[in-house]
Amino acid sequence: MLIPIILSGGAGTRLWPVSREAHPKPFMRIGDGKSLLTQTHERALAVSGNTPPLIVTNRDYYFLSHDELESQEVKPNYLLEPSGRNTAPAIALAAMWAMQQKPDACMLVLPADHLIKDTPGFYTAVQHAENLAKDGFLVLFGIKPKAPETGFGYIEMGNKVSEHAQVVQRFVEKPDAVTAARYLAEGNYVWNSGMFCFKASTILDAFATYNPALLEAARTVFNSTKAVGDKMELPASFNALENISIDYAVMEKAKNIAVIPGDFDWSDIGAWKAVAEAIPADAAGNTNNNCQTIVIDSRNTHIQTTDRLVAVIGLDNLLVIDTPDALLVADKARSQEVKEVVTRLKAAG
Ligand code: GDD
Ligand code: MG
Repeated sequence: MLIPIILSGGAGTRLWPVSREAHPKPFMRIGDGKSLLTQTHERALAVSGNTPPLIVTNRDYYFLSHDELESQEVKPNYLLEPSGRNTAPAIALAAMWAMQQKPDACMLVLPADHLIKDTPGFYTAVQHAENLAKDGFLVLFGIKPKAPETGFGYIEMGNKVSEHAQVVQRFVEKPDAVTAARYLAEGNYVWNSGMFCFKASTILDAFATYNPALLEAARTVFNSTKAVGDKMELPASFNALENISIDYAVMEKAKNIAVIPGDFDWSDIGAWKAVAEAIPADAAGNTNNNCQTIVIDSRNTHIQTTDRLVAVIGLDNLLVIDTPDALLVADKARSQEVKEVVTRLKAAG
């Protein structure tokens, strides 16, 4: 049994002004309509034989998620966090829940904000991953790097552990641009996609070895949480768990890990440049997110608007993101810096 665990953390600050605390990234619609959360849910069902996923998210997003997935035939369950403590506590608690469903369950951990168009290719990778997970491996999905991105973790791959997977030599979380370019040239590195597959018991054993304090605290939290209908609301004691990612807490230390170099398209919709790249462009490289625009003598622009018409003339490589109460105009090449706007807004109160 493969149980999908969907991590739906919250607002992506580099996608301001569309992604905000009240309307975070998983609820963004890319291209022709479905939100990233809906697409992730449907992908999870497709590769798991319709096993209801567990969505781990902030309690503030329960109703939004519930409404978003209302029309789905198979509905998810929810593990609701009172605050974000990063991915390690979320995954530890999800593993405890999965063990309750079935003691030898495999978990497929999927971030809610990724775009994968090639579901059959992804399914093949998941099958290979599940086979290795059953043998006690912590399996990562690697992505062949396309550019020296600094927003991803890199995995150095070693010898083969099976026909489809390789040993993880080491992890490098978010290297600088010069190091990333070197990894790209060396060729034996893949991006860490942030998707994982392992038995619930294997990841709990790894926590017991590498972070027993977090495991014990998480177990106490879990034992004091009850399921009501489709949701488990975690108590305030969850807020005291260590704020740490699964990469730092476990993956960088574990020995029984393997990476499957993914043979499918993948995009982490982290910044506006990635949104633009996920949408078919016109002959001059312009994209718009399913909205009304007039684009004259412009190249490589990305335009997004809600109700208003946006017209542009003579633009090159610019982002124009229009919402009812805020407008972003930025150099597309600097889309990573949008988070600075959010920092300043927060500082201004
Ligand atoms: N439920 C829950 N609670 N989900 C969370 C939390 C949390 O506290 N924190 C993060 N997440 C979810 C996010 O919503 C996202 O879907 C996923 O976990 C990864 O978190 P990010 O914050 O987006 O991580 P990152 O982008 O900095 O880095 C990770 O992902 C990259 C690929 O997208 C790392 O694993 C990198 O190594 C990797 O390359
Ligand atoms: Mg991310």
